Amino acid sequence: MLNLLKNKHILLGITGSIAAYRMPDLIRQLQAKGAKVKVIMTKGAQAFITPLTFSALTGHPVYTDVFHFYSEHPIIHLDLARWADIFVIAPASADVIAKLAQGMANDLLTSTALGCSRPILVCPSMNPNMYFKPAVQANLRRLTQNGFYVMQPAKGKLACGTEGQGRLPAIEDIIARIEMFFFPQDLRRYKILVTAGPTQEAIDPVRFITNRSSGKMGFAIAKLAAARGAEVILVSGPTQLRPPYGVNFISITTTQEMKEAVFECYPEVDAVIMAAAVADFRPRYTPQKIKKADGLALYLEKTEDILSLLGQYKRHQLLVGFAAETGDPLAEAKRKLEQKRLDLIIANDVTQPGAGFGTETNQVTLIYRNGVRECWPLMYKEEVAMRLLDRIKGLLCRMC
Ligand code: PMT
Repeated sequence: MLNLLKNKHILLGITGSIAAYRMPDLIRQLQAKGAKVKVIMTKGAQAFITPLTFSALTGHPVYTDVFHFYSEHPIIHLDLARWADIFVIAPASADVIAKLAQGMANDLLTSTALGCSRPILVCPSMNPNMYFKPAVQANLRRLTQNGFYVMQPAKGKLACGTEGQGRLPAIEDIIARIEMFFFPQDLRRYKILVTAGPTQEAIDPVRFITNRSSGKMGFAIAKLAAARGAEVILVSGPTQLRPPYGVNFISITTTQEMKEAVFECYPEVDAVIMAAAVADFRPRYTPQKIKKADGLALYLEKTEDILSLLGQYKRHQLLVGFAAETGDPLAEAKRKLEQKRLDLIIANDVTQPGAGFGTETNQVTLIYRNGVRECWPLMYKEEVAMRLLDRIKGLLCRMC
């Protein structure tokens, strides 16, 4: 698996918000990725959760007092600021946001922020009425103007019982946002459309046909393209996966819906990567549930080939297809590359152990329009995605 956080120093600043209780989970997940974590707590934070919890988790003292002498960090605010590769302030209360916006330094957390020249990520968490107060919004705008990074709070039910925007985002999303600081932002100029998952075609109101795609390959590509700064649209059929952080997610069910979603975005994107396993056939729909006693004979008609249509209407876009094959994968992939007018196709021999549908790993061969081939070993799908995006960046650079 890609491990961008290995040995990275994450300084976590916890402030007085009920979401402080979720920070042990954040720390555990960061540590599982190999990161080293140290914690600063404000007075308010200590009202919600004790420093002892975080000392036990991190193996370090929890830093609370700018005037205390900590032997491992004699000039505490500057030493911590220097130690950090990133300073994450989560949850960030309205009070600390106001202080940071003013450049105040009247406690350890704010003094460290002032002394810190590494990226500072602020994750507000508070009641929606507080969050949307003009003063708080103005402070957040000011933070952004002053070079802080602000993560939007999530919508949902809050501890105070109200619903709205103000929740601390999911821990997975905070980690994805932190990881972004360690990715090259080399796809920032590009808008990329990725398709993933299967499509489903209904037989009657209770039955459908589909295929074994889990969406993992396409979601990995979308996640990493967004992490590398691309504007990403992910069009996906039904899967069990959470949409990756930072992508514009469009959920569809049928091939026709995927086609409509893809064509709506097509004119404005620089590249299309079709990792979806689109149903090639659709049954004639019966509006009433077919009775078991009647037996079931399916008449299947062909669906439209979305990628072929994209090839026909191609203008500036780079077109990348996948080919899931069982027979002669390279010959079939090459045929599809030409027939669909693609720039690149990824041949996927789904009979290979660890490759293709549902697995965490994949083994692929890339075939370019000029006939060049690259055969990659079995890798995690995220690694395949990362390398594939390197190749796509190269092709996009050559096109402009
Ligand atoms: O989702 P996972 O479980 O992670 O599995 C990954 C994967 C095996 C689904 C993926 O790696 C893969 O190979 N995707 C393409 C599967 C496929 O449908 O291949 P195909 O050979 O049938 O289609 C060729 C290309 O045309 C594909 O890019 C496909 O998206 C596209 N197509 C196919 C049919 C159709 N009606 N319209 C299309 O656009």
